Amino acid sequence: MSAQDGATSVSVVAAVIIAVGRLTAEGIRVTRRRRIAYLCLTVPHDDLPDVEAAFARHDTDVEIVKLADADQINWSGIDLLSLRMLRYFHLEPDLIPRIDALCARVRANAPGGLPVVNPPGLVARGLDKFDYLPRLAEAGVPVVPTEWVSRGTPVTLHAILERTGWRRAVVKPTLSARGWNAFRVTRAETPTDDPDPTADHPHFTLPDASDAVAGSNAERRFAELTAMTTVSVQPFVDEITTRGETSFVFIGGRYSHAIAKSVAENGWIAHESFGGVNKRLEATPAHIAWAEELHSLLCSWFEQLRYARIDTLPAPDGSLQLLECELVAPRLFLREGGALDRYARSMLGVAATA
Ligand SMILES: Nc1ncnc2c1ncn2[C@@H]1O[C@H](COP(=O)(O)OP(=O)(O)O)[C@@H](O)[C@H]1O
Ligand SMILES: [Mg+2]
Repeated sequence: MSAQDGATSVSVVAAVIIAVGRLTAEGIRVTRRRRIAYLCLTVPHDDLPDVEAAFARHDTDVEIVKLADADQINWSGIDLLSLRMLRYFHLEPDLIPRIDALCARVRANAPGGLPVVNPPGLVARGLDKFDYLPRLAEAGVPVVPTEWVSRGTPVTLHAILERTGWRRAVVKPTLSARGWNAFRVTRAETPTDDPDPTADHPHFTLPDASDAVAGSNAERRFAELTAMTTVSVQPFVDEITTRGETSFVFIGGRYSHAIAKSVAENGWIAHESFGGVNKRLEATPAHIAWAEELHSLLCSWFEQLRYARIDTLPAPDGSLQLLECELVAPRLFLREGGALDRYARSMLGVAATA
């Protein structure tokens, strides 16, 4: 046998030992595959097959656990619980106390405490834009200008647009995803709209004359929405239709990649389920530095962010304005960003240090 053959067989034996188990005083202990559970409400993100394949390359199985079934799970065999696939959180009643109760229980039951990412405290503080965006604006972050209307406030859309001077605006619930219940409004001397009330994201006109306002579709929809939930009103940022939205993705505490999200022709929602297209983008060093600074601020507020997405709209001068931070259940565009393995390794790093 040549020296080279000998080296090869030694490395093969070493590889087998590493793959099968650790050599201990008792002999070879078989290492069990690790298991990562994703908490879900209805369906997980579309990237689940990619995520499963990435974890499989690291000897890890992925399990989808519905919040409603969480009591039946034997948590002792799970290495990590992730909240990232918690889609449709905005439709779930009592979500925060239910997540908190579940996390407290699984942490208490698992030996050494089951790690949960991102930490469950974020569900209370990082899901509702009304919780974190005003604080970020106060801290000096350039947030898209926003008027906040708490649920049940008796204010008209007309009054807000008069006061701000905005001719075109977006109205949206502060706890939402995929533009849920968002609508556009444009002020017009002579309203000509015939909005389709069944459209996902209607575009209404609001008459300039105050006596015509009350019966308008825009005002009616605004009243319905503010009766139901807290909403934000923002100027419509034109650039969404030409330059789209830019998302900065962070994994394991570091900048990973940026994604340009376009909107459909004649659309304004940057989401693939409404005709948008997501593509990797080489962000400029200045924009990456901007996002990193914001991410550091978020990390100082929220314990250990293992992943984060920062969504921005371009300002007319080319600078960035913050639209929202996705800290709990974001799509991370891992395939587009070539980041599937980085993501899997980062999550497993959390499981290993628990
Ligand atoms: N002020 C705005 N100007 C232009 N487009 C907007 C504005 N606010 C939201 N949008 C569009 O609506 C989409 C959804 O809004 P967003 O604030 O991201 O809420 P969420 O994703 O939580 O529903 C954005 O991706 C963007 O396409
Ligand atoms: Mg969004």
